[in-house]
Amino acid sequence: MSHGVLLAYILNAIVAKNMQQFVLWTVADFAVFTLLGILLFSTSWLRSILIQKMSTQLRLDIAQNVTSGDYAFFHRHDTGTYGSWLTNDITMIESQGFACFFLIIQLICDTGFTIVAFLQFHWSLIVISFLLALATYGVPQLLHKQMAVANLNVTHANEKLLARAQSLFKGFDTLFSLDLQRHIPADLKEPAEALAQAQVKESVVQAGMNGIAGYSSIISQITLTAWTGLLVLWGLTSIGTIESVGNLSFNILNSMAQLGPVIVAIQAVQPLFAKYVPAPANPQAAEKKQLPAAAAGPIQLTNLSYTYPGSPKAALRSITVTIAPTQKVAVTGPSGVGKSTLLNILNGKLTNYQGAAEIAHIPLQQINSHSLRRTLLYIDQQPYVFAGTVRDNMNLGEHYSDKQIMAALQQADLAAFVQDLPAGLDTPVGEDGRLFSGGQRQRLALARGMLRQRHIMLIDEGTSALDRASALTVENSFLKQADLTVIFVTHQLHDENKALFDQVIQLS
Ligand SMILES: Nc1ncnc2c1ncn2[C@@H]1O[C@H](COP(=O)(O)OP(=O)(O)OP(=O)(O)O)[C@@H](O)[C@H]1O
Ligand SMILES: [Mg+2]
Repeated sequence: MSHGVLLAYILNAIVAKNMQQFVLWTVADFAVFTLLGILLFSTSWLRSILIQKMSTQLRLDIAQNVTSGDYAFFHRHDTGTYGSWLTNDITMIESQGFACFFLIIQLICDTGFTIVAFLQFHWSLIVISFLLALATYGVPQLLHKQMAVANLNVTHANEKLLARAQSLFKGFDTLFSLDLQRHIPADLKEPAEALAQAQVKESVVQAGMNGIAGYSSIISQITLTAWTGLLVLWGLTSIGTIESVGNLSFNILNSMAQLGPVIVAIQAVQPLFAKYVPAPANPQAAEKKQLPAAAAGPIQLTNLSYTYPGSPKAALRSITVTIAPTQKVAVTGPSGVGKSTLLNILNGKLTNYQGAAEIAHIPLQQINSHSLRRTLLYIDQQPYVFAGTVRDNMNLGEHYSDKQIMAALQQADLAAFVQDLPAGLDTPVGEDGRLFSGGQRQRLALARGMLRQRHIMLIDEGTSALDRASALTVENSFLKQADLTVIFVTHQLHDENKALFDQVIQLS
């Protein structure tokens, strides 16, 4: 801006053949550009820090929102989609949202300075440039809906690609065994092409917007220069003004030509935020009851049935049973009969069951979800092992002493194995716990559960992959804990410890 004004002074000094003024304004012009360079460098540095701070906060907020609800709320989307939110979506928001936010501030400042500069020449320049700037800014708004749709389509395409890639790459070992891994690129082709198409559409809308704004800016600059020419001809301003107005009108109109599409871009990322909403507040949650701190009283199931949403038939059919505190119960029955479903109801994951289910005489649906999961622990049929060390997998963000961890591993018959690992507890387990065999993974999950010393343990085939001797050791370690209630799903009741069970529930 100052450069624009200085140009007028320099040109006027040349016209007046004033060497002193000419040198003075030229040196001033150099100084302005040096200052500008320093300023631009520092602001882009600062901008990058601020943008990354906002992005990090947004990532954490998204993670917080995604995990803020119940089991069903989290499972509305698959994990690839969440991955895409934290990576691709944030990149889009950074480039179109945050970065544009700073551009707007810069453009508004540019425009403000230019108006001040114009005041020195002739008031009419402000009025005309204001009208032209308004038009240059407004025209791209015509495409704002198309831009929002295009953006949303890109993010959805990203989510699909990431979900498919994740599923295929995770299944590499299975495909490799079947000699089918060559199909991975072919299976990725469709979502990759869909993403490419969505991105091309977005670029087309973006280019259309920029094109319209750019054209409008050029027309406006020509108009403004012509008007200045007339002012000079009428003797209302000096000849140097032509040079300045050319320069300044480029500033202001170019700013507007950028501002229009930028505002549209900011508006167009807004629909993304609608995806990241936290779980709706559950007004009944505060009224829900806490389970008693000690052994939580009997588990009573009366005509309990469950049908998965959309499924034509019941997964669990009308079971009635009472389990007294500290009882050890085996649940058996053929595959698919509903054993895991039963444990998932008790664990609070499946809520829309029919019939009655009570713990300590409180209906399950009235029990506070945190209280339920702090009383009762479910050990999954397919235990998940996190990337990280053995210790990380035991701690899961909490902190336990080596002594506590080793004792739990001992109960799960895994202590000797872990001690022999190169770095003991601090040995990385590899992606999905590749370091462990199937049976060792089961035992790690059991040890993780034992470490937390809940009152009720629901164990879903926790020893199915173990040899007989190891299975007996592990089963005995929880069956012999006098104050523990155990519901143990198994296909394999061993004669040696059958007597330790108080009852066997046979599902059919
Ligand atoms: N998330 C789900 N959505 C729809 N149907 C499901 C779901 N999970 C399980 N089912 C169905 O419910 C039935 C019972 O499944 P469940 O996992 O409880 O059986 P299970 O007795 O534990 O079998 P297994 O011994 O093989 O582990 C099955 O027919 C299964 O297909
Ligand atoms: Mg099962």
